[in-house]
Amino acid sequence: MADIRKTPEQWNESVDGPLIRLEGISKGFEYNSSPIVILDDASLTIKRGESIAVVGESGIGKSTLLHILGALDKPDKGNFFFKGKNVFDMDTKQLAGFRNHSIGFVFQFHYLLAEFTSLENVMIPGMIAGISKGVIKPQAEEILVRVGLKNRLSHRVNDLSGGEQQRVALARALVMKPEILLADEPTGNLDSKNSQQVHDFLTELNREMQMTMVIVTHNGKLASYMQKQMTIHDGKLVDMG
Ligand SMILES: Nc1ncnc2c1ncn2[C@@H]1O[C@H](COP(=O)(O)OP(=O)(O)OP(=O)(O)O)[C@@H](O)[C@H]1O
Ligand SMILES: [Mg+2]
Repeated sequence: MADIRKTPEQWNESVDGPLIRLEGISKGFEYNSSPIVILDDASLTIKRGESIAVVGESGIGKSTLLHILGALDKPDKGNFFFKGKNVFDMDTKQLAGFRNHSIGFVFQFHYLLAEFTSLENVMIPGMIAGISKGVIKPQAEEILVRVGLKNRLSHRVNDLSGGEQQRVALARALVMKPEILLADEPTGNLDSKNSQQVHDFLTELNREMQMTMVIVTHNGKLASYMQKQMTIHDGKLVDMG
């Protein structure tokens, strides 16, 4: 599946260099009136098609980083460029478009709609984007089949196992065929067989459509499938080689 999309405004960071650049990102929180620094002047460059695992101990800022990359949270300082355009200069509509079309996000806690079926949950990003039901439904079905949920399409999320819910969340993140997948522990609740299926699927997506991936994981095997392994040390992103 060739993927030739380019815009924002046919991007050219000197001939389509970095897809994403984070520069000098700082982010902290205030807790009981004392500040905690999580990211401290952190930088990261991501090329199109690159796959990155972010690993490391609980509390070092992995989810915080992912939320910034998904434009779900703003840093206190620093710049975030997507295809050479400053994400923080986007207006509300452009930002919503960026989140809905360019990014697929798998949250650490899945945030599915419990009373809706698997299929309905996966169709939602398409409905939000104004795609007709007739078009998005087969796409949603296809992606659910690919994550191994062929026989769970009309189950309500409440009636699915934790691992099945996690795969619905992954399918929801992928249904719009985003350029970038940001996933926070996508296999945290899966056994080794289902994890392997997800690993293979992610590898295929990376190869077939050059999907760029940043995946937070404690799963060493999944991390090893990514081209780069990184961690956060003293608030900075560090390449683990
Ligand atoms: N809204 C907030 N208010 C105060 N502190 C916060 C807030 N969000 C995160 N933190 C703190 O920032 C630190 C980093 O959190 P983050 O969720 O990014 O960690 P993580 O690396 O994803 O950990 P885990 O592996 O446990 O998911 C934690 O110590 C957390 O308690
Ligand atoms: Mg986390």
